[in-house]
Amino acid sequence: MTILVTGGAGYIGSHTCIELVEAGYDIVVADNFVNSCMEAVHRTRKLCGVDFPFEQIDLTDYEATDRLFDKYKIDAVIHFAGLKAVGESVKIPVTYYRNNLDSALSVLEAMKKHEVKSFIFSSSATVYGPEAPVPYNEATPVSRSTASPYGNTKLMIEYILKDTVKAIPGFNAVLLRYFNPVGAHASGEIGENPTGIPNNLMPYVAQVAVGKLDMIHIFGNDYDTPDGTCQRDYIHVVDLAKGHVAALKKVKENCGLFVCNLGTGKGTSVLEMVKAFSRSCGKELPYEFAPRREGDLPAFWADPAFAKEQLGWVAEKGIQEMCDDVWRWQSKNPDGFPQD
Ligand code: NAD
Ligand code: UFG
Repeated sequence: MTILVTGGAGYIGSHTCIELVEAGYDIVVADNFVNSCMEAVHRTRKLCGVDFPFEQIDLTDYEATDRLFDKYKIDAVIHFAGLKAVGESVKIPVTYYRNNLDSALSVLEAMKKHEVKSFIFSSSATVYGPEAPVPYNEATPVSRSTASPYGNTKLMIEYILKDTVKAIPGFNAVLLRYFNPVGAHASGEIGENPTGIPNNLMPYVAQVAVGKLDMIHIFGNDYDTPDGTCQRDYIHVVDLAKGHVAALKKVKENCGLFVCNLGTGKGTSVLEMVKAFSRSCGKELPYEFAPRREGDLPAFWADPAFAKEQLGWVAEKGIQEMCDDVWRWQSKNPDGFPQD
């Protein structure tokens, strides 16, 4: 069975490629490197032990996407490709809507033409919106609008997939709502490689640990949480990657539309995360409290029961292992992947 992994040179996609190959799938990877590079593909191939095919294409280009489906006999698609920086999406919304919606639409159009009927989508916990009770479970209705244009693209693609499942007999779509992916492959060869100053907590902390940034700014210490800082459900990227292998079994069962959280079910505060990372790198990391960041919710985490029941999938790796693995990746590659 051959899986097209769109955005497979990126952070979550590259880790998923390894788990897919390990599980016995053939893969084809497509990416335009808007937020990744060829070195990630080289290293992923090495870790897989397989020289899987890679195509550098922009998936918003329907003709190029169609040619990809002509060239390879694809059985299922895992669609990671998309722009993902929440703050940037507020500044350049049209770019985000254009890229994320067009890439999903051209893949779906090519799938229709080539009669490929299995699709797994990288959605996000952000679709639950601020009103949802914690822990988030799949029965909670999604919000009418999320906190950002980025989040809205996830919501819109969820609707597109819902309608596609209704319209095309035998079409199956798994919507995976990720919580906060962190961590890196245990080899330290691949990991998260943000461009510029990281917006997300874990890569920021890792860059302070390696000396590239001076100080961690903790956004808000007056939330109604046990230590006053925000809580999130951090999930190891390798656990998340394994969730996609479990989801592929689900699509083969002809699931129609299937929505599932991928999280651990545990909330961890920003301060707890910083302390765990300090243990990983063996030094106290400097931090200061800063004002709350606009749009942040105080605390949310997944109800992971449905994933366990339906996919037989449970996240296994804890916070310390997540920090240890990020530290290995960051200390081996302080500047991320070498530029090619
Ligand atoms: P990433 O940026 O590392 O990977 C996305 C990849 O898609 C990149 O390699 C990028 O070059 C590629 N891409 C983007 N637009 C493309 C296009 N038009 N054509 C071809 N390739 C294109 O991001 P990631 O963290 O690996 O996230 C993967 C997916 O998971 C994204 O859809 C993201 O929105 C979603 N997601 C991520 C998180 C997170 O916190 N990392 C949380 C929830 C959901
Ligand atoms: N934080 C800091 N300092 C920093 C960076 C972050 O204190 O330098 C705090 C934030 O205020 C928040 C927590 O760390 O309380 C986590 O922030 P991240 O930016 O790492 O993650 P978010 O929860 O804001 O968002 C992430 C992804 C979204 C996704 C969401 C849920 O960026 O795309 O998880 O899956 F929707």
